[in-house]
Amino acid sequence: MSTNNGYILVEQSLNLSGTASLLGAKNAALPIMASLILTSGKSVLYNVPNSADIKEMIELLEDLGAKIDFDKEKNILEFDGSFINKAEVKHEVMDKMRASILVMGPLLSRFKKARAAFPGGCLIGARPIDFHLKGFESLGVKITNDSEFIYATIDGQLKEERKIVLEYPSVGATENLVMFAVLQAGVTKIINAALEPEVLDFLEVLKKMGANISFEIPATIIITGVKKLNSVSHTIIPDRLEAGALLLAAAITGGNIELPDARPDHMDLFLEKLKQMGHEINIGFNNLSSNKNIKTGVKLIATKSQRAVNIKTCPYPGFPTDLQAPIMAALCLANGVSVVEETVFENRLMHVKELEKMGAQISVKNNKATVNGVDHLYGASVIASDIRASAALVLAGLAAKGKTQVFGINHWRRGYDKLEDKLINLGAKIEIINN
Ligand code: UD1
Repeated sequence: MSTNNGYILVEQSLNLSGTASLLGAKNAALPIMASLILTSGKSVLYNVPNSADIKEMIELLEDLGAKIDFDKEKNILEFDGSFINKAEVKHEVMDKMRASILVMGPLLSRFKKARAAFPGGCLIGARPIDFHLKGFESLGVKITNDSEFIYATIDGQLKEERKIVLEYPSVGATENLVMFAVLQAGVTKIINAALEPEVLDFLEVLKKMGANISFEIPATIIITGVKKLNSVSHTIIPDRLEAGALLLAAAITGGNIELPDARPDHMDLFLEKLKQMGHEINIGFNNLSSNKNIKTGVKLIATKSQRAVNIKTCPYPGFPTDLQAPIMAALCLANGVSVVEETVFENRLMHVKELEKMGAQISVKNNKATVNGVDHLYGASVIASDIRASAALVLAGLAAKGKTQVFGINHWRRGYDKLEDKLINLGAKIEIINN
């Protein structure tokens, strides 16, 4: 496990309070950046977080031949895909970021062939790409492999009507398959598609480019191929996962917070769970600048006595797996027993062991963690195993007596853009120590 040398030093910081702004969702920005491969000409994306995963995607796209100018302070990314001339995802890139597989669909569409290195193992589960590959095959793409690469090629004409039935509403597979289908003549249906807010933002971008995309209840995406897609200008939706971390920071420290840009309609169940824990939630006090019908804004006033709640992660609109670890940090200090069930990834309870080092009482059986709330957590030296575990451990550190060192800073950097500064503005004592 790579933990890098640096760590996040967190000191107990009670009553975190104030207002924070949100950046765009990394998980929307990544597929949207990949979709720009389908265009030539200049596109502009606003509200792109300057996180390490975004940097990896920029490097990957530049390696393919794209011209990119990223203003990291203003979070504006300018993209010109006119010179993309390669259709390959290398090992080094795939190992660093699994989301690299997302370029396969658009490359295949643009060049009629693409090759990608096999993805490496991943700490939060095997994270295979079989749904992506089976999906391509059911659209008529030929998939072969050798020991190093997976090759995808289109031989001749695809069928006019195509259907993919996903075994599971995989976010990445849905996005990859859509990017392939948008430029293929005829109609493609993706049944049991993922419909996370980030996927919908990505589909919105494709529609702005000129793609013909519609939906059928309950979860089918219908794509009618068009000949060409145009460059685009788009503001990425606010990150519900950054919002979740900030709301929990106020919740776990007994403070209060206002997030004017947060989209409550993207996190209904999460907000419901915060209410069940006893926190006061107010929503929808602002108009979205681009669409007056959408209300933004979430305020949380923390209870001083959190109640235990049960959580079961599911595809959207279920409870997001990416907020499972962060909310567990708060449940460690709630009154009573909470059962947290992880159903999306098979190995995503690695933060439990680290929370236990801080005094949490948790027992794990298969994919279920039973959390017995305790009165106090204590600072310790802990290791984050993925992006969201890093948030969970920082949150626990804010509430814990004494000082906590969170190693695995690379994960924090992969998922968040200066979230530590936002927490410091609310009163948190956090320092990034780079050894
Ligand atoms: C995306 C998010 C990630 C989030 C996850 C679930 C991005 C960049 N990342 O990841 O933050 O936690 O959705 O909401 O958007 N699976 C297979 N075969 C496949 C594909 C997936 O078995 O071909 C399994 C995975 O191992 C996992 C489940 O399906 O158990 C869901 O994965 P998926 O929705 O594809 O997640 P990602 O797109 O990788």
